[in-house]
Amino acid sequence: MLSLKRILLIVDGPGVMTHTASLVTSLLRQGVAMRVALTESARLLVGDYFTTMLSGTPLIRFPEISEKILGDSDAVLAAPVSEKMAWLLCEDDWLAKWKHVKGPVMIAPAFLPQEDNAEVRMMLSSRGGGAVQWLMAEDETTDMGSLGSLDVASPERCLEAAMTAMTKQDLAGKRILITAGPTVEDFDPVRFVTNRSTGRMGVALARMAAWRGADVTIVHGPMTWPIPPHGGIHACPVRSAQSMYDAVMARVAYMDLAILCAAVADFTPINYSNVKIKKQKSADGVFSLEMKRTPDILDSIGHASGRRPFLVGFAAESDHVQAYAQAKLESKNCDMLCANDVTKPGSGFAVGTNQVTVFKRDGSVVELPQMSKEDVARRVLDIALEGMSHRAAN
Ligand code: PMT
Repeated sequence: MLSLKRILLIVDGPGVMTHTASLVTSLLRQGVAMRVALTESARLLVGDYFTTMLSGTPLIRFPEISEKILGDSDAVLAAPVSEKMAWLLCEDDWLAKWKHVKGPVMIAPAFLPQEDNAEVRMMLSSRGGGAVQWLMAEDETTDMGSLGSLDVASPERCLEAAMTAMTKQDLAGKRILITAGPTVEDFDPVRFVTNRSTGRMGVALARMAAWRGADVTIVHGPMTWPIPPHGGIHACPVRSAQSMYDAVMARVAYMDLAILCAAVADFTPINYSNVKIKKQKSADGVFSLEMKRTPDILDSIGHASGRRPFLVGFAAESDHVQAYAQAKLESKNCDMLCANDVTKPGSGFAVGTNQVTVFKRDGSVVELPQMSKEDVARRVLDIALEGMSHRAAN
């Protein structure tokens, strides 16, 4: 479970119109309490009630930030701030104040894109010593309507950095491979066979692992759920079951943990037509597609010789959940199997929640309640980490 966290958000200039609502609401959604400090220029643009109403706490007028507020904060996020303000926040009196904060101080400076200021950006990002973590724009431009645009780290990237900074790094140094989403099996240039997986469960696993400091590789089919911009998540997009197999097998020997959450096609069409298949070909109105088995990735890792990571499978079941899950755990030789009953409302494909039962190698079973996919991911990672430590000790 995420422990209670508090963050001080400092906002300066027009970024208050583009970043603040999204940052405040997404931090609140993650259970983070906050205080928001606005500079004079930010207050001119949105008015004093804006952030008070959003955050539910009284507005602070920058620079009137008390030692108590700093001391109560697990992190400071100055996002976005003007370049001038970014320099100011690295001056000695502010560096002395940052010492009261329990965790890191992150600054996301905003630049005008038309200015060729690569040198300034570099100089700025070396300021602050170890006291400041810089969130510099990475090909990110924020459109501000008639005011023009700004080069600044996106609200999503600021959120990922803030959540990582406030999360215990108990997976630091661990390399984790996750598969996610559906696979797509093409049989002509416009048609394919796929399934209902959005990738949301796999992305939740990748995100929670990255927040905890892991180096995550997510091998994923075409997903409708986005991968968050986190420096610790490396995406490897694939399409078919065969291409997912190839990408996973090329990487898995280097991993400490592999969680196979993708809904991989069990069958793929035997033939691919280079031209669109004409419906006239089916005189009797019936079209048959001949299919063959795809390689089973989980089974291949489970039965590979040599070093292999701690292996976690998922199982999408619609009946006899316990019996089928136990059988998969045994036959695919994995260390843990997370079964979800995809016929239950609020569980399985294309919903924000899941209800998972974890079957472990030692025969024990952990039945998790229905909860958000992010909370399921946290619990699955906790159980896997425990299993990895147990394996290392034996
Ligand atoms: O993506 P969402 O919309 O959030 O939905 C999440 C989910 C329902 C897809 C997810 O929670 C889930 O259950 N994933 C596993 C789906 C699945 O394919 O289950 P299975 O019982 O068919 O496969 C068992 C295991 O073998 C899985 O770990 C699967 O990744 C793996 N497998 C299956 C076939 C194959 N050719 N290779 C594999 O590695």
